Amino acid sequence: MLIDQFCFSLDVSKLKEGSVIWESPSNIALVKYWGKKEHQIPENTSISFTLNQCKTITELTFVKKNLTEEFSFDVLLDDQPKPEFKSKIATFFKRVEDYLPFLKHYHFVINTKNTFPHSSGIASSASGMSALALCLMDVEKLHNPQMTQDYFNKKASFLARLGSGSASRSIEGPIVVWGNHPEIEESSDLFGVKYPYKVHDNFSNFNDTILLVDKGEKQVSSTVGHNLMHRHPFAKNRFIQAEENISKLKSILASGDLNAFIELVESEALTLHAMMMTSLPYFILMKPNTLQIINKIWQFRKETGLPICFTLDAGANVHVLYPSIEEEKILKFINTELVAYCQNGHYICDKIGFGAKKQ
Ligand code: DP6
Repeated sequence: MLIDQFCFSLDVSKLKEGSVIWESPSNIALVKYWGKKEHQIPENTSISFTLNQCKTITELTFVKKNLTEEFSFDVLLDDQPKPEFKSKIATFFKRVEDYLPFLKHYHFVINTKNTFPHSSGIASSASGMSALALCLMDVEKLHNPQMTQDYFNKKASFLARLGSGSASRSIEGPIVVWGNHPEIEESSDLFGVKYPYKVHDNFSNFNDTILLVDKGEKQVSSTVGHNLMHRHPFAKNRFIQAEENISKLKSILASGDLNAFIELVESEALTLHAMMMTSLPYFILMKPNTLQIINKIWQFRKETGLPICFTLDAGANVHVLYPSIEEEKILKFINTELVAYCQNGHYICDKIGFGAKKQ
């Protein structure tokens, strides 16, 4: 599957050397991507809030070399060599090679760091792959200086998706849709697009406080989990439900209905984990403290009527979502009632952000 719109022919005489730095955020899905076809095509549309604080900062240095059969690159995390990251990046390079014909003409040094601890259980693939894709787009830009900002963003998202599906939603913000949906204009399976409609003020300043329940490496990777949707007994209905939830969320984002938002977002989180629990082999990524926190949130919401809800990604950590104007009351609740369930009492205060930035 070659997508012509993102191909270009290389003029080797114009190869330049240099280095670029991009910082790219993580994102948290409201309607989840879980299940994919060949070539990183999602089984259903997903939508996410772009985050602001949790990000990867990647410096890419590119030096010309003679054309070779293999890719040539070194990877560093926090200035230390990370050979264990190499196979994932080599797979990514292989997937994007047709779209970046300069890859084998350079030796790259990829020096990356995260603003969140590596061992926090927070997936770094969305921020990491999007930061690398953006750096590579800057290299392409040296060859195609006339490219538009729109093309730059779309192709960056397209490349990021080939590294990790959710990374396609990290280029822009505050809300991004990935997957072709009949009710979202310009939406595509190939790249994420900025949510194109007006969003009610209730959603313009949202916090995401990430409670770090389990900082360990997860037992089942997302890639394995996605694949288990292939023979999953409930997959077909799940994909239909996700598309319906995108339509529902579109109305909710327009009307500002926080109760409907809470119901949809929590249902999506629990459905994601229900899919894991009903795969073959089945698995559970939630921990006892994940459930303790969920119950505490429900109890607090019932008592106070405050618009607080949770979502989960493929792990045990809990993302607590709420409008920023409620921050004082909700942080007090988190500190008095929820911190006890976090590993070493750790949590990260994040909020909706506006996408990647070049340094
Ligand atoms: C549960 O994007 O990590 O976070 O495409 O295999 O790299 P790959 O998977 P990945 O899956 C993320 C799944 C999720 C839901 C979501 O972010 O939509």
